[in-house]
Amino acid sequence: MHSYLAAFVAGFPLLATAQSLFDARSTNYTAIFASGLSSGASIHFPNQPDYNTSIVQRYSTWDQPDFFVTIKPATDQDVQYVIKTANRYNIPFLATGGGHGSEPGFAKVKNAVNIDLSNFREKKIDTKANRLTIGPGMAFFEFEKDLYDVGKHIPVGNAYCVNMIGATIGAAHGPYQGMHGLGIDALRSVRLVTASGDIVTASDTQNKDLFWAVRGAGANFGIITSATYEIYDAPNGGNLVEADFAYNGSVNAALWQLLESWDETYPREMGLTMVASFNRAANATSLSASMSFFGTKEQAQPWVDQFVAIGPTRWQSQTIPWWNASQAQGFGTGSNSCRKGVYNNHPSVGTKQTNAETYTKVVQQHWDFAASRPWFNGIMFLQRFNTTATLAVPKDKQGVYPGREFGSLIVFQNFYDGPAHDTEVYNYQNPLRAQLAATSGFGKLRTYINYAYGDEGPEVWYGKENLPKLSQLKRKWDPLNKFGAGNPIPLNYS
Ligand SMILES: Cc1cc2nc3c(=O)[nH]c(=O)nc-3n(C[C@H](O)[C@H](O)[C@H](O)COP(=O)(O)OP(=O)(O)OC[C@H]3O[C@@H](n4cnc5c(N)ncnc54)[C@H](O)[C@@H]3O)c2cc1C
Ligand SMILES: *[C@@H]1O[C@H](CO)[C@@H](O)[C@H](O)[C@H]1NC(C)=O
Ligand SMILES: *[C@@H]1O[C@H](CO)[C@@H](O)[C@H](O)[C@H]1NC(C)=O
Ligand SMILES: *[C@@H]1O[C@H](CO)[C@@H](O)[C@H](O)[C@H]1NC(C)=O
Ligand SMILES: *[C@@H]1O[C@H](CO)[C@@H](O)[C@H](O)[C@H]1NC(C)=O
Ligand SMILES: *[C@@H]1O[C@H](CO)[C@@H](O)[C@H](O)[C@H]1NC(C)=O
Ligand SMILES: *[C@@H]1O[C@H](CO)[C@@H](O)[C@H](O)[C@H]1NC(C)=O
Repeated sequence: MHSYLAAFVAGFPLLATAQSLFDARSTNYTAIFASGLSSGASIHFPNQPDYNTSIVQRYSTWDQPDFFVTIKPATDQDVQYVIKTANRYNIPFLATGGGHGSEPGFAKVKNAVNIDLSNFREKKIDTKANRLTIGPGMAFFEFEKDLYDVGKHIPVGNAYCVNMIGATIGAAHGPYQGMHGLGIDALRSVRLVTASGDIVTASDTQNKDLFWAVRGAGANFGIITSATYEIYDAPNGGNLVEADFAYNGSVNAALWQLLESWDETYPREMGLTMVASFNRAANATSLSASMSFFGTKEQAQPWVDQFVAIGPTRWQSQTIPWWNASQAQGFGTGSNSCRKGVYNNHPSVGTKQTNAETYTKVVQQHWDFAASRPWFNGIMFLQRFNTTATLAVPKDKQGVYPGREFGSLIVFQNFYDGPAHDTEVYNYQNPLRAQLAATSGFGKLRTYINYAYGDEGPEVWYGKENLPKLSQLKRKWDPLNKFGAGNPIPLNYS
């Protein structure tokens, strides 16, 4: 044995493996990765002046992953090569779609390779077969108008900037789920690159177990490079009624009582986002509601009238194409919610029933907290869904996602000035989240994985009943835990 190696091994007996000798600072990533990539791929380092404009930025800067390098693959083979190479050198990696996710688990990703999927811009619409095929670089708005133009529709989420595949691997909740179910209910197949670098298709007929897992736990099993969805004939010719209402905070109780009164009748055509916030400029509490109704003005009117009856300070109602509803909501301010690079996290609660008394108290506590803290710009929002379509999906087509019963998702979107206030914000929102959970109709905390804060644990993210099978599939498809840093599935759950 060469003497220098013998000395090294003797000096560092526990480190004598290729794995632990790896040192990000002294490794030439270009030399490792460049040779195997296609000409369309590129490599970007954080010290380059154009780094931030060359790669997908994150929505939240809270608990961000720490990347040593960003690689933008252009082909499935590139993704395969990056995964295999990273595995060989035992370099951690994380896929980035639209960058909208934020989880404390991301902060554990250090010195990693960022696999930025923004080159995957596939978009195919087949109106005969009723199929949409897209790549993971595609946000909702990048195909919504194309579907509208051919009279089709798909259940997307609220904010037009979110990537369809990134949302789908959680569930893809949205204002249209009352019509056709969740994004996962429209999903028909995916192509993904697995932890071992294999390219596989998962659908109801191929790798059925993996297809089940992808629908709710999809960040844990591979990198999806293409997804095919069923598309539907657009209701009401693709046009919907979009209405916005702004209220003085004094209607707090009345607004939630209205919502509670709809618990048995909330129609499937309707999507609704309600927001409570503290208006610092005006030093005043405020509430708002934005609704979409996939039907005629006459059909929407009874619902609009009930919002008007509470006495908005301002309101409007218009008929618009569905693809523009996300930007139009909030009196045309919908794009504000897409601003990136802002420090925030989002504890949230899924509920089965509306409890006006609890919501009124929780909103008041939110205002009290915000009013006296100028560094806090958080909001509370509620999205309301009709669950008839999501609950009608047969058991064997449901996938993992355990939140089909959610009539509402309530989210504390905590915007504030940085880590110095992490504890104070957590200590404020944690009891509020518990109050909402206590009257949610579930008797315990449940939420949607893509809105989760990250401290809920795998039973909440994936459903206790699903964990034995998920854990088994994890051992089969990703035994070394390469994926899922955000919301890890335990490898040995039983
Ligand atoms: C403003 C805003 C509005 C939102 N509105 C909605 C909504 O209406 N409905 C809804 O359902 N959700 C909504 N979300 C939540 C959204 O679904 C999640 O943030 C989702 O993770 C976004 O996907 P992304 O690709 O943009 O995020 P990223 O942060 O890039 O990815 C999130 C996670 O998924 C993994 N991932 C991403 N792409 C792939 C892929 N192709 N293959 C495998 N793993 C992948 C990443 O590694 C990461 O772990 C919203 C989020 C924001 C910030
Ligand atoms: C890293 O490798 C690339 C390609 O092999 C080479 O051009 C570059 O000079 C190397 N960088 C350093 C710092 O050695
Ligand atoms: C890129 O953005 C990060 C914050 O996300 C910032 O810290 C850094 O200074 C930026 N780099 C450049 C070159 O602008
Ligand atoms: C809101 O309502 C309160 C109580 O009715 C009233 O005092 C206040 O002036 C109102 N604010 C605005 C901006 O209308
Ligand atoms: C959902 O909508 C359907 C049809 O509009 C309606 O029959 C049903 O009662 C609604 N469900 C709930 C829980 O409101
Ligand atoms: C905001 O209003 C409250 C009373 O509602 C008052 O006590 C406080 O001084 C006001 N703050 C500012 C900055 O005007
Ligand atoms: C889409 O909505 C925005 C915001 O309301 C509006 O400014 C724009 O004119 C709309 N575009 C079309 C084509 O309707």
